Amino acid sequence: MKILSIETSCDETGISIIEVKGTKNPTFKILADSLNSQIKIHAQYGGVFPALAKREHQKNLPILLERTLKKTKLEKNKNPFDLIAVTSGPGLEPALWTGIVFAKELSKKWNVPLVPVNHMEGHILSVFGKHKKTFKISKIKFPALSLLVSGGHTELVLFDNLGKYKIIGETLDDAAGEAFDKVARMLELPYPGGPEISKLAEKERRKIILKGAPQCDGTRTEQIFQQKNCDPFKIDFPSFSLPRPMLFSKNFNFSFSGLKTAVLYLIRDLKEKNPKVLEDIKIKQAIAMEFENAVVETLVYKTKKAIEKYNIETLIVAGGVSANKYLKKEMQKLTNKKQILCFPDKKLSGDNAIMIGIAGYLKFIEKNKKGTNHKNIKAEGNLRLN
Ligand code: KG4
Ligand code: ZN
Repeated sequence: MKILSIETSCDETGISIIEVKGTKNPTFKILADSLNSQIKIHAQYGGVFPALAKREHQKNLPILLERTLKKTKLEKNKNPFDLIAVTSGPGLEPALWTGIVFAKELSKKWNVPLVPVNHMEGHILSVFGKHKKTFKISKIKFPALSLLVSGGHTELVLFDNLGKYKIIGETLDDAAGEAFDKVARMLELPYPGGPEISKLAEKERRKIILKGAPQCDGTRTEQIFQQKNCDPFKIDFPSFSLPRPMLFSKNFNFSFSGLKTAVLYLIRDLKEKNPKVLEDIKIKQAIAMEFENAVVETLVYKTKKAIEKYNIETLIVAGGVSANKYLKKEMQKLTNKKQILCFPDKKLSGDNAIMIGIAGYLKFIEKNKKGTNHKNIKAEGNLRLN
């Protein structure tokens, strides 16, 4: 069967065409995939502007569909698809609606079933996808845990089956990616800030190793930081200490807004002494590294606790922030040889339509190969996994 999938939850317009062969352990093949990023348009605002995102999706969807269809030579078929999958939430509602309205029209035109997909489930299943090769939904062991880290979400999700999820912890304020973006803006770095901060942090980490300075590894907490004599003021280049909010709270929730504010105050204090302080790349690198350390340590520590508490057999880390090299390196330390650790391919860590197609297929199968009534499909900005 052939699936058309559509993603418009935020600032990426995605359309993909996936062929699924077999029923018991089906093989997936990406016949065509198109992604149109609006990053350049939103960059000037330092974040995503919903009305603008909607306008761009509306403009892009028909163009992308035509382009994607052409790649597969399916455009001449009267009924090219067996299923349409569309993101229905969570995300920006005006943006989500554009994808849903578009999908409903196509579903009526071709008389094919339509299924709404939860974007976060898409991120979980993105780890199975392969951009260029064929792939299967590989066997994972349960209980499984997913750390979902994106621009809008930071969640720890527990599950015993694909399709049935339980959120055991989430951010109480900003998402990890959002914190990266906001701190990048404070450091006068372009949007999206995650990759920019990460680049600076990596440079700083390499410099520390080269200079043989006391290393603060990712499992550091404030106490260990002191014990290891890793005092930032004893190091001969700028180094700062930022908080790890809610690190020792007795639950699996996160909070990144206090950390963001700490960076704001730090930069304000530094600017009082030297208004041009951000022209000093060394200072920027040092702040970027300490900020990245704080986010990664918090994510790693809480994930570690959840793995232990629930005897987790598979850990899936997904969402835009899962592209972060340091996060990946530190997460690799959490699982042993018997446990399975999955990250998405770099191309599938950010928003894309391929993950929506995979999730749509599983939902279609679960519903005995039925779509959802068009009337029941609506955009749900705050749609949850459970
Ligand atoms: O999943 P995603 O593409 O979109 C949402 O569903 O939100 O995630 C986007 C987020 C942005 O906040 C971006 O800054 C962050 O992922 N991000 C990163 C990295 N690459 C993307 N954060 C940290 N390090 C990265 N390398
Ligand atoms: Zn996403």
